[in-house]
Amino acid sequence: MNPIDPQLVPQKSLPNGDHMPAIGLGTFGSDRYSAEEVAEAVYQAIHAGYRHIDCASVYGNEREIGATLRRVFADGIRREELWITSKVWNNRHGDADASARQSLSDLGLDYLDLYLIHWPFPNHHEKGVDVGSRDPHAVPFHHESYMATWRQLESLVRDGAVRHIGTSNMTIPKLQGLLGEAEIRPAANEMELHPHFQQPELLNYVVAEGIIPIGYSPFGSPSRPERDRTPDDTADLEDPVLLTVAERHSLTPAAVSIKWAVQRGQVPIPFSVKSHQFLDSLAAVTSPPLSDEEMGAIATIDRNCRLIKGQVFLWPTAQGWEDLWDLDGTIAGS
Ligand SMILES: NC(=O)c1ccc[n+]([C@@H]2O[C@H](COP(=O)([O-])OP(=O)(O)OC[C@H]3O[C@@H](n4cnc5c(N)ncnc54)[C@H](OP(=O)(O)O)[C@@H]3O)[C@@H](O)[C@H]2O)c1
Repeated sequence: MNPIDPQLVPQKSLPNGDHMPAIGLGTFGSDRYSAEEVAEAVYQAIHAGYRHIDCASVYGNEREIGATLRRVFADGIRREELWITSKVWNNRHGDADASARQSLSDLGLDYLDLYLIHWPFPNHHEKGVDVGSRDPHAVPFHHESYMATWRQLESLVRDGAVRHIGTSNMTIPKLQGLLGEAEIRPAANEMELHPHFQQPELLNYVVAEGIIPIGYSPFGSPSRPERDRTPDDTADLEDPVLLTVAERHSLTPAAVSIKWAVQRGQVPIPFSVKSHQFLDSLAAVTSPPLSDEEMGAIATIDRNCRLIKGQVFLWPTAQGWEDLWDLDGTIAGS
């Protein structure tokens, strides 16, 4: 498959005139792919036409991706052509400024396009822990502590280290608290979004607030770590409706998921180290759109199947993973 002209990729406009490409490449190797493999995929993907890369310090590969970016710049691609996101991990909420500057140093950049608070909880877990393990120091969401971290992100914008700031894994009540006090509003909210987990209420809220929804795990994260699997999980890419639409368009079900996401208004950030896969995803955003009827059919296959439940972030007295997601509209434990 040939590279895609980045100018053909739809863009999301931001109030200051910046543009976010409407598809990005994920970089979390799911404990399966090495930092070097992911960094090489970023190199190939940028040459295939990707201009938006979703990074995070906790993915453990920002230094390797930094080496890739240096190669890309040496090849003639300019910094301002790229949209680079990074995120502050849970154990650095009190230290977000230093964490952002570490990501900048590792990535070899002098600014980030977007910096997110990765999770709203300051609860860290060791790599590879069992989902049943509980960190005795883990705490529920605490609005004032979250705002203290947000203030550090606002300072990063004022310093020019970061162009935009945003949230991830948030809920409506938590966002309402933030929006009530933010001096700089979140530009984007990163959230799990795929055909079997469409989160219409949160998506509509975010869009109504002028916040760009970035959708992670757009294929239902088929290679996610064992700790993120439960017996009730469904497999999006095997859904008969997706398969039928894919066949009609001579596309893969993955490409249909990407088309659906972009047409719905969210920015998918698929992960892959395989060039045929990441090219398939990028090409999907430039081919003729799905019909209203096809979009409607995909809207009916929502299974409310959250895959990234976040069990490892639970505090000792929490009842279950549902406590992280404020399902009854109130913030649990705070
Ligand atoms: N903010 C957050 O808390 C958060 C949480 C999770 C993820 N993310 C971000 O979102 C990104 C994507 O999420 P994800 O990796 O969980 O899920 P995903 O993108 O839904 O799934 C990635 C996997 O799907 C398969 N795949 C990729 N392209 C394909 C294609 N065209 N056709 C068929 N299969 C394809 C690959 O499996 P094989 O490798 O087995 O071929 C790949 O490893 C992450 O890399 C990360 O950047 C953010």
